[in-house]
Amino acid sequence: MLDVPLHNLVPAYIREFEPYIPSKPDTELMKLYGCDRLYRLNNNENPLGPPAAAQDIVRRFRPPRAAIYPSGDSYYLRMKLGEKYNLNPDQFLFGNGANEVIAFVIKAFCQEGDNIITADKTFAVYEWVAVFSGFEARLVPLKDFGFDDEGMLERIDGRTKILFVCNPNNPTGTYWNESKLRRFLDIIAGRQIVVVDEAYCEFVENPDFPDGMKLLNEYPNLVIFRTFSKMYGLAGLRIGYLAGHQEVVDIIRRTCVVYSVNTVAQDAALAAVEDDSHVRATRNLVRLEKSYLKTALEPLNLEVQSGEGCFMMIKLPMSDTLAYRKFMSQGVMIRSMTGFRCPNWIRVSIGKHEAMKAFVAALEHILLPG
Ligand SMILES: Cc1ncc(COP(=O)(O)O)c(C=O)c1O
Repeated sequence: MLDVPLHNLVPAYIREFEPYIPSKPDTELMKLYGCDRLYRLNNNENPLGPPAAAQDIVRRFRPPRAAIYPSGDSYYLRMKLGEKYNLNPDQFLFGNGANEVIAFVIKAFCQEGDNIITADKTFAVYEWVAVFSGFEARLVPLKDFGFDDEGMLERIDGRTKILFVCNPNNPTGTYWNESKLRRFLDIIAGRQIVVVDEAYCEFVENPDFPDGMKLLNEYPNLVIFRTFSKMYGLAGLRIGYLAGHQEVVDIIRRTCVVYSVNTVAQDAALAAVEDDSHVRATRNLVRLEKSYLKTALEPLNLEVQSGEGCFMMIKLPMSDTLAYRKFMSQGVMIRSMTGFRCPNWIRVSIGKHEAMKAFVAALEHILLPG
């Protein structure tokens, strides 16, 4: 044991923080719940996998390359994205998933006494990183399932450094259109950093959805997050990035540990960005299966919250944690939403038709007697 009591070494905000416990590997879960097949509908993964060219990269990886460090700043990917979005390659910063770049931004701008603002029911990592780094996270309740712009503006004070907007929002699927986002940025007028997390932007087809990349040169305090985990099916390789004004990115780069993005992830992502047909195929699947799911759910008379993105929320007449166990025993893994502050709700990722049918069958089994 240590000579000093552990609590003397640990800051209060760490002592009070409850760690996130990831779920066990699929094979362990299948043993635990006694099922021989598991449909993973809990993490918004792409049911079509990565684009074919990215799969090829993974297949053809030469093992000796594993001994060599990757590019420390995802050089070729930044070149490629610079071309694609007509931005300077230095305006991009890559991380081990978009999760990692959240920490880069918070570390770059917050110091003791500062706060960040986001929503109460959104992707929780903005809040978690702020809180376990010792900063206040001000959580503004959603309004009609969407981010409340006025509510967020009201909570700003002299110590607010960053506002996080998830667009479209995970888990509710709502989004701010371009005029709403512009109005918000105009009011903030560069006084704080505004992060717009576009992890699911490639799933949105509505023409009023704002492309954050196109707003970067107009709003120097805007930072965009993107990931290769969702549309591009590379969640297991862990690669995501942020984009911003060059001056802002130069600041954030100081908090970024190089080499956290591995070689296979960089090469696979480089191949993936080219593949528009994969985006189309995934959008088609999501559109079709969402519509199947909505129709199949109608007779059950449940409240459903379905917007953009590859997921849907459903309110159950029972505890969501109990429902999770019941779904698991039927080989369907969903996301219970108490952790998102939505008790009794579950979130289901859109999968292939077979998985959606299994989900509906499991739900009927859970809810309907006999
Ligand atoms: C809104 C949002 N942002 C960021 C992430 C993190 O993505 P990554 O896998 O790139 O860390 C997720 C993952 O679920 C997400 O839903």
